[in-house]
Amino acid sequence: MKADEVKRVAVIGCGIMGSGIVEVCAKAGIEVVFVEVNEAAREHGQAAIERSMAKAVERGKLEEGARDDALARIKGSTNLEVVAGADMVIEAVTEHLPTKLSIFERVDGLVGEDVVLATNTSSLPIAELAAATNRPERVVGMHFFNPPPVMKCLEIIRALTTSEETVDFARALGERLGKTTVLAKDRAGFIVNFLLIPYLNSAIRMLDEGFATREDIDAGVVLALGHPMGPLTLLDLIGLDTALHVSEVLYDEFKDPLYSAPTLLKRMVSAGYLGRKSGRGFYQYDQ
Ligand code: CAA
Repeated sequence: MKADEVKRVAVIGCGIMGSGIVEVCAKAGIEVVFVEVNEAAREHGQAAIERSMAKAVERGKLEEGARDDALARIKGSTNLEVVAGADMVIEAVTEHLPTKLSIFERVDGLVGEDVVLATNTSSLPIAELAAATNRPERVVGMHFFNPPPVMKCLEIIRALTTSEETVDFARALGERLGKTTVLAKDRAGFIVNFLLIPYLNSAIRMLDEGFATREDIDAGVVLALGHPMGPLTLLDLIGLDTALHVSEVLYDEFKDPLYSAPTLLKRMVSAGYLGRKSGRGFYQYDQ
């Protein structure tokens, strides 16, 4: 199938990334069915999509009519079997390899044999997910950035087993979704997190060691480097649990102290300070 023939996408997981991916697909005119683990998570995902689209309308990025049309293309479910009939599947569940492996194994048995299965993982090996299926040549990484409706980049990750045709399909679909794609090898961190994680970890160490206040660390980066937000604010946006996980995967792969997770990050995650999503991270947020 060609990317411009895709009519129906299934997105598995509707958290921060999944809900953004659903929104991006629906806005591109594609019908989307998303799957969550239970009714509360389904409702939470649906509400996140509606909030983000309302914000897009408020900012003048989306017409009200286009918003209504996009919302009408979206359907949530708690039953994984709804993926049958999808032309393409994007998995965006939590960064837990056994969970992803079991999803890939199950989805492989539910969709047509030509359907491409993509994962939004930010660091886990695509090759392992591919090996859990009977279509390793049609498994590929499609790594969106947070927030997916706003960030223009889409990393396409080619595993050893991914066919050239699948890579071309993923790139073309990414362009159809309004993204610019960059191609990376299946190595932990791909392009962006390989660079981003040492920087974020250094900011946490600076704070922990008392070099500067959180406000000054963030202001320094925003004002001196022109980033839209400083590293500690960005960590709160990404989610501290996700940042810790990515850091651990990178360290495990390269055994380079550059990637080792700072102690403060580990303690904050243990304490439930996960950033914006939990109401507290390096900063405090209204729920
Ligand atoms: N839909 C469409 N557009 C939106 C939007 C939405 N829901 N929300 C905001 N925007 C647009 C705004 O209209 C604005 O566009 P213009 O520049 O054209 O005016 C732009 O996004 C920025 O918005 P604001 O300046 O109003 O600021 P904001 O607070 O709403 O923006 C932000 C927030 C987009 C997150 C911005 O601060 C930003 O870009 N931060 C950096 C995010 C980043 O680095 N993401 C990567 C994280 S790393 C990752 O994801 C990888 C991983 O695996 C860990």
